[in-house]
Amino acid sequence: MSSNTIESLLERLNSHKKELSPVCITSLFEQNPDRFSDMSCSAAGITLDYSKNIATSETLGLLMALAREHRLEQRIQAMMNGEQINATEQRQVLHVALRASEGVTAQYRSLVDDVLKKMEDFVARIHGGQWQGYSGKAITDIVNIGIGGSDLGPLMATTALKPYHQKAVNCHFVSNVDAADISEVLSVLNPETTLFIVASKTFTTIETLTNAKTARAWLLKSISEQPNRDQDAAIAKHFVAVTANTDNAKAFGIAEHNVFPMWDWVGGRYSMWSAIGMPIALAIGMEGFHQLRAGAAAMDEHFRNAPLENNLPVLMGMFGVWYSQYWDAHSHAVLPYCHYLSQFPKYLQQLDMESNGKSASICGGFVSEHTGSVIWGDVGTNGQHSFHQLLHQGTRFIPADFIMPLTAHHDVDDHHSLLFANCLSQSRALMQGKSAEQAKQEFMAMGYSEQEAQYLAPHKQMPGNRPSNTLVIDKLDPYSLGALVALYEHKVYVQSIVWEINAFDQWGVELGKKLCSEIVNVINGEQGEEAFDASTQALIAMFKKKNK
Ligand code: F6P
Repeated sequence: MSSNTIESLLERLNSHKKELSPVCITSLFEQNPDRFSDMSCSAAGITLDYSKNIATSETLGLLMALAREHRLEQRIQAMMNGEQINATEQRQVLHVALRASEGVTAQYRSLVDDVLKKMEDFVARIHGGQWQGYSGKAITDIVNIGIGGSDLGPLMATTALKPYHQKAVNCHFVSNVDAADISEVLSVLNPETTLFIVASKTFTTIETLTNAKTARAWLLKSISEQPNRDQDAAIAKHFVAVTANTDNAKAFGIAEHNVFPMWDWVGGRYSMWSAIGMPIALAIGMEGFHQLRAGAAAMDEHFRNAPLENNLPVLMGMFGVWYSQYWDAHSHAVLPYCHYLSQFPKYLQQLDMESNGKSASICGGFVSEHTGSVIWGDVGTNGQHSFHQLLHQGTRFIPADFIMPLTAHHDVDDHHSLLFANCLSQSRALMQGKSAEQAKQEFMAMGYSEQEAQYLAPHKQMPGNRPSNTLVIDKLDPYSLGALVALYEHKVYVQSIVWEINAFDQWGVELGKKLCSEIVNVINGEQGEEAFDASTQALIAMFKKKNK
């Protein structure tokens, strides 16, 4: 990497941005009737239409040159080849090894296959009713207790793949340490037919351990009401763990044969393809889980082999860099036009923001540009009637991703056409906007005087030229979901390369954890509060007064 070349590319991008500022995306379409075919490409069942971006072939040339100057191609191979790219924790980053990609997986395949076999056996026994609770009844309900990466992926995917649920068991999720979460879930369950998956890579996460203890107490209370029940035997029938810390899981009381391993080369937010994905496998079956992995593997192959110019994660990542660095974009909206993807924006928040919410450079010191964007969004059309107003007329510049399956899982009248039309109308409206003159004419046509129309026009005017990607899939199924998730995982990696940050650690969350345990000590009277600021002291006092 030559810093001189990078500097000169950054300067060229800067002047290119100035040249493009007055240019409308609509005029770029007028100039080039082939813009859609020139600026769209497909891989692993996903078509990315990036033609509604503020970009020309020159923009792409500069962005790809920048990526190359950061040695993106070599660094993609470095990840796939299992180099220790998580430099701050000296770890490999091998979530790709969990999904059957060729080459990279060879040395890890037996580890991964062993766990997949164990999962297969477990899922078959649960589905077949052979895995029974302490009173001999089959398991009907699974509760996944985990948080962050040990919750969001399985929650998102089981929600997304509801049409593929096998209905053998119901899956529930508990993550929050607010007991309202677990209480609501347990209130509708029968301990005799409920099995808990304690999902925690570290098995030290306070929220997960607290919820797991509450679940264990709930189970043991039910046993205590029945004579001669062996508690350890009951826990073995009702608790399994997914963790890289078998010792802690055993210390909690989970039998070793009920521990599904994971490894330090899989980051929590990249782990839904490991045994952390057990709720997905239980919900849709192992065949569906393999399809999910296959979709991700196909995207991995594309990421590894396609030239940068046609590489979906690279294109999406570099557009993100372009808008963040040169267009002052601070956030990025994710707008799936598919109700089953309701959890997808939330899932991406952890994936992207925990990965790229960094300011230290892996080259030493701190970065000089903004890094990770604020990721947010909701399903269309719901978002249109809440926050889209800000996208259309607010002062902020917010690029968006529209995600649209061409076919639906239902054939209810004309709903799907309407959904599709809404998706396209939003990307068009963001792009074309409405001029002051158009707005004025509309008011005058409604009977307003010219003076009134002149006053009202800015309120109806829309700047337009707001960029978006449209991601099209045939249907939301396990394969396409796998490909979609892998696409975003790799997009995040691409951006981390260009920003020269480590996407795979998350030390920022540690300080809050440490301060929390100090405050708990103060609340429990085990530590004085003198060291705290006046606000924290006063708020603790208020809490203690109400919770004597
Ligand atoms: O606090 C953040 C975090 O460390 C995430 O990175 C992780 O996914 C989550 O906590 C849960 O961690 P664990 O799986 O170890 O319980």
